[in-house]
Amino acid sequence: MRETVIVIDFGGQYNQLVARRVREAGVYCEIYSYKTDIEKIKEMNPKGIILTGGPNSCYEDDSPTYTKELFEIGIPVLGLCYGAQLMQHILGGVVEKAPVREYGKTETFFDNNSKVFTDIPEKSITWMSHFDYIKEAAPGFKVSAHTKDCPVAAAEDEEKKLYAIQFHPEVLHTEYGKEILSNYVYNVCECKGDWKMETFVQDSIKAIKEKVGDGKVLLALSGGVDSSVAAGLLSKAIGKQLTCVFVDHGLLRKNEGDDVEAIFGPEGDFDLNFIRVNAQQRYYDKLKGVSEPENKRKIIGEEFIRVFEEEAGKIGAVDFLAQGTIYPDVVESGLGGESAVIKSHHNVGGLPDTVDFKDILEPLRDLFKDEVRKAGLELGIPERLVFRQPFPGPGLGVRIVGEITEDKVKIVQDADAIYREEVDTALKEYLKENGKEADWKPDQYFAALTNMQSVGVMGDERTYDFAVCLRAVKTIDFMTAESSEIPYDILNRVMTRIINEVKGVNRVMYDLTSKPPGTIEIE
Ligand code: XMP
Repeated sequence: MRETVIVIDFGGQYNQLVARRVREAGVYCEIYSYKTDIEKIKEMNPKGIILTGGPNSCYEDDSPTYTKELFEIGIPVLGLCYGAQLMQHILGGVVEKAPVREYGKTETFFDNNSKVFTDIPEKSITWMSHFDYIKEAAPGFKVSAHTKDCPVAAAEDEEKKLYAIQFHPEVLHTEYGKEILSNYVYNVCECKGDWKMETFVQDSIKAIKEKVGDGKVLLALSGGVDSSVAAGLLSKAIGKQLTCVFVDHGLLRKNEGDDVEAIFGPEGDFDLNFIRVNAQQRYYDKLKGVSEPENKRKIIGEEFIRVFEEEAGKIGAVDFLAQGTIYPDVVESGLGGESAVIKSHHNVGGLPDTVDFKDILEPLRDLFKDEVRKAGLELGIPERLVFRQPFPGPGLGVRIVGEITEDKVKIVQDADAIYREEVDTALKEYLKENGKEADWKPDQYFAALTNMQSVGVMGDERTYDFAVCLRAVKTIDFMTAESSEIPYDILNRVMTRIINEVKGVNRVMYDLTSKPPGTIEIE
């Protein structure tokens, strides 16, 4: 049993961040809704419990709450923001609407005698975001931090191991947030810190071996980070009992198909059965004459299932269908946390009904994305794949406006390769020269092809060619995004190279639109 800290989610926007920070400190952490029964929590026997923030006022009748027993079972509890107020409210403190709303970076004064505030300065910046405040701490609690407007920025009952913190240590704007959370898990919960990717990989290999026995496993490998790491892990555990089907739909980035084959195919470093299905022409035929975006998506998705089914048919019945589901998918599909029962997530939409298998295998379902990457490196998967940008399932199909043709695919592949190469080089140079990341560093960047042809002139000749659209966005969650302020000289270099090197293009445009109103992809 690995030591575990549990986050009880009250609908705060930072619920996953809290869990990630605890794991970064070396302690495994899982998120559960505040509706989770106390008996279930007790059964898990966690080393500590953290209550998250949330949008409500704890003193209102219909607000999320928790049984008082939670504070009496002897397991350390740390309440953050709403969690802190709720703890104080339940235990007899006074929580009400604050005379002054605190929001943003706030100077905070700490009592260093507290186990959670040892070894941090007596005064530093924290991130506050609250309407209500703790006016008076509950009986038995000692105030351990305050601000100008907040008499109880933190309070604790050391003997009962109960800690209430009004600010958000999980947010990077809190200067010593990492240290505070680390103090909690080590000084208060007395964790040893056994959450390491190396151990995870070894434990998972053992667990997969046990579960699979001599069974057969089938995995749809897309070449994205998650399915690739799943393939690497399964291959180390069960070798040739694993078959990976990689469908090249002809809508991948330049050289991507060959790259995936080089890593996972017979010449690569992994022991598995690798089947590359070259379905390019099949997709181009199906997509001929189709220009409506949703139709294109549907055709690409359905065709994937058909191709995969055919291949699975050749293999025959398998025991397990493996999927690259990761922890945020689990939380967001409502199985874990509270805040985001917003979308239900299916990694391989439609497949489970149509392929003959006994059980599903999800070897990454406990990991956050950054942990998946670490596990990938641990398994020896090359960095260029492990740090790949997000790439949509329908691929370049959603980056070509209007009808998809083989020629257009080639144009967008070439333009995109130049753009990514130049941006990557510029980012590396910036980091080398300045010792920090450029503040324009985009989270996703790619070239797309518009459906516009226009007149140009090249070497005294009239041209009538396509316009390429460059997109680069900064985003945290991909739900909203800002266009990234890539320096003009870089954009200029990209433009010159695309015009000179990519046949069929005579204009290059930069997309300034944020999301909303735009989406990140252009279809
Ligand atoms: P949008 O265009 O919706 O994109 O702003 C948000 C993020 O999701 C990715 N995306 C997709 N990923 N299948 C996927 O697996 C899709 O159909 C799809 N459409 C968009 C997009 O690349 C961005 O990261």
